[in-house]
Amino acid sequence: MSTTTSRRGDSLLALRFEAGALRAIDQTALPWEERELILASAEDVAEAIRRLSIRGAPLIGVAAGYGVAIALARDPSLKSLELACEVLASARPTAVNLSRSVQRVHTASLRAHSDADRAAAALTEARLIETEEEAASDAIARHGARLLGGARRILTHCNTGALAAPGRGTALAVVAELADRGTLERALATESRPLLQGARLTVYELSKLDIEHELIVDSAAAGLLAKGAADAVIVGCDRVAANGDVANKVGTYGLALAASAADIPFVVAGPTSTIDYDCPAGAEIAIEERDPDEVRFAGGGIVTLPHTSCRNPAFDVTPAKLVTALVTERGVASPVDACTVAALRPG
Ligand code: MRU
Repeated sequence: MSTTTSRRGDSLLALRFEAGALRAIDQTALPWEERELILASAEDVAEAIRRLSIRGAPLIGVAAGYGVAIALARDPSLKSLELACEVLASARPTAVNLSRSVQRVHTASLRAHSDADRAAAALTEARLIETEEEAASDAIARHGARLLGGARRILTHCNTGALAAPGRGTALAVVAELADRGTLERALATESRPLLQGARLTVYELSKLDIEHELIVDSAAAGLLAKGAADAVIVGCDRVAANGDVANKVGTYGLALAASAADIPFVVAGPTSTIDYDCPAGAEIAIEERDPDEVRFAGGGIVTLPHTSCRNPAFDVTPAKLVTALVTERGVASPVDACTVAALRPG
C-alpha cells in the first residue's frame, strides 16, 4: 500500500475546476449538508468567497485564480480581465493570498499574445497556484510534525484543514500528520464564534480523519491551557507581516497569550504565499469587519436583543514575540522576527 493512499485527509476536495466552472463544497451548509456549488462567473466566485462558502486563506487564493480564468474563457478582452480581477481581489481584505493570486493570474494573462492565449494562460497559472499550495501543505505537515513530535494533545482554532487550503490544509495538516505517525492522542478544537468554523468544519474534518477530538467553547481555552489540557497550540494564518506579526481568525491573539501564560508552544502554520513582505507590521493589516448579525445570531437563532449594537472583527493580530514558531513549506522560523521571516522568502 502506498503512503499516499493511506494518509489521513487525502479524500476531502473543497473545490475543483471542471468543464469551465468551479465546483465547490458550500461550507456554509456543513456539517449538516454536503452541497456542491457550481460557480460559472467571476462574480459567482467572489460571492462564494464573501459569504464564506469558500474560505481559508490559501483556498480563497486558489478560487480567485480560477475565477479570473473563468471570466476570460467567456470574454478574453482586457476589460473583462480588469473587471474580474477587481471583483475578486476585493471580495475579502485580510488574507493576502487573495490579492496575490489575482495579481499572479493577471500578470500571466497579460503575457499572452492573443485573446485566445489569454484565457489559456490564466487557467495555466490558476492550476499552478493550486499545485503549489498542495505541495506546500505536504511540506508544512512534515516540518510541523517534526517540530511538534512530542506534543500528544494539541489545541487548534478556526478551520485550517482541507476545507481551508489545497491538500490537507495548514495547521490541521500538521495535526493529521502527527496522527498518521501515531504520536497524537487528541485534538482540542475551539468553536470559533461567530461563524463556528471550529464547531462546524474542524470537527467535521477531524471526524473524517478519524482523529480523537473534543470541542470546547472559545472562552474555555485559556483555563484549560492553564490546567495543562494541551501540550501545544497550532493555528493557521491569513496574513503574516514582514516582522512576523500574524493576522488570523479572531480569538487567536487570546490563545497566544494563554499559551504563553501556560508556557506551551504557540505555533503558526501557513504557506509563504500568506507572508506579505510589503506589509512591515501587523498594525498595517486590514482587518475585515463583518455583518453584526453574525454576532446577533448563532445556530439559526437570535442570542441577544434584536437591536443590540455589535462589533464583528473577523480577525485579530498576534505579535510575533508571542509566536514560538512559524511553519511554512520552506522551513520553520523560530524565533519569529524580521530576520527569520526574511529568510523564508522565496527566490
Ligand atoms: O474567515 P475564515 O473562515 O476564512 O478564516 C479562516 C482562518 O482564520 C484560518 O485560520 C486561516 O485562513 C488559515 S488557512 C488554513
